[in-house]
Amino acid sequence: MKTELAIGVSRLRKSFGGKAALADIDLSVPAGSVFALLGPNGAGKSTLVAILTTLLRADGGTATVGGLDVGRQAAAVRNLLSVTSQASAVDEFLTGRENLTMIGRLHLLGGAKAISRADKLLRDFDLHGAADRKVSTYSGGMVRRLDLAMSLVRRPEVLFLDEPTTGLDPRSRLAVWNAVRGLSKQGVTVFLTTQYLEEADQLADSIAVLNDGRIVAQGTADELKRLVPAGHVEFGFQDPQDFGKALTLIRAERGNAGNNVNKDDEFLTVRVATTDSAAVITSVVASLSAGGCTASSIAIIKPTLDDVFLALTAKQEAKQ
Ligand SMILES: Nc1ncnc2c1ncn2[C@@H]1O[C@H](COP(=O)(O)OP(=O)(O)OP(=O)(O)O)[C@@H](O)[C@H]1O
Ligand SMILES: [Mg+2]
Repeated sequence: MKTELAIGVSRLRKSFGGKAALADIDLSVPAGSVFALLGPNGAGKSTLVAILTTLLRADGGTATVGGLDVGRQAAAVRNLLSVTSQASAVDEFLTGRENLTMIGRLHLLGGAKAISRADKLLRDFDLHGAADRKVSTYSGGMVRRLDLAMSLVRRPEVLFLDEPTTGLDPRSRLAVWNAVRGLSKQGVTVFLTTQYLEEADQLADSIAVLNDGRIVAQGTADELKRLVPAGHVEFGFQDPQDFGKALTLIRAERGNAGNNVNKDDEFLTVRVATTDSAAVITSVVASLSAGGCTASSIAIIKPTLDDVFLALTAKQEAKQ
């Protein structure tokens, strides 16, 4: 089993104009794994990617890629990695194929090799049909896929993908996910940033949640889901009187077990947080019927990474 670290970050700091974009970040990513940095707009994701890919200097702390220091051994670090940044790197005036062969030549691949590599990537990313059209005629999703293909002309040891699927349609997103899985199988370490919880859940061996420059949680998707006991049963009522009665009954029965009331105009719901939905349903249905009212719907809601994310980022906001 590989246990070496592909990426190690310790107490990393970066501020812009006195405002911390990254505050004492610690991270470690084992070689060959897929790591997702999950965070909302402005969390500091691109700042961290820029530091790890040697484009930006940290104010303090250390970061290594492939065991090399990103500040002191920047050229050697650049040799190990590829990056697809949030801003596109393609040349709009060239065709997709020309963009790819140009990068191949920059990486000193011989002419024939650069051409065959471009051809394979065009097929892998479903761009074959548009290969000889100027990129200025591509859709946003096609440009994004070409960007990703360009970062794979030379197979890197560590691949950084900054929000690789933002704005992509479901089919293009799947193509990117499959590419990431394929690379991971070949032993490439992937560091991706995303605002999509599902993406982290689908792809990542481990996840860190970044909010306002701080890591607020770290672990596997399952570990993170366990952080919030957010499973709940939702009882719905159409009649406001029934709803009022039910609320009193449920509160009497469950005490202050976090009954969360959601009154929108259409539907009145009472939520009961629990890890044992079956028991809650049995006992609440019994007490509702004893009290003379009936729920018009009952739903079991399982915790998702969204719950974790919202809970963690809300906690952070409350502290500020
Ligand atoms: N060059 C810069 N100069 C000044 N402030 C910056 C600079 N780069 C980033 N910031 C600030 O640092 C914070 C983190 O920005 P960053 O781009 O890293 O966030 P992000 O998580 O990538 O967000 P997004 O999801 O929108 O891409 C933001 O408050 C941003 O305004
Ligand atoms: Mg960003």
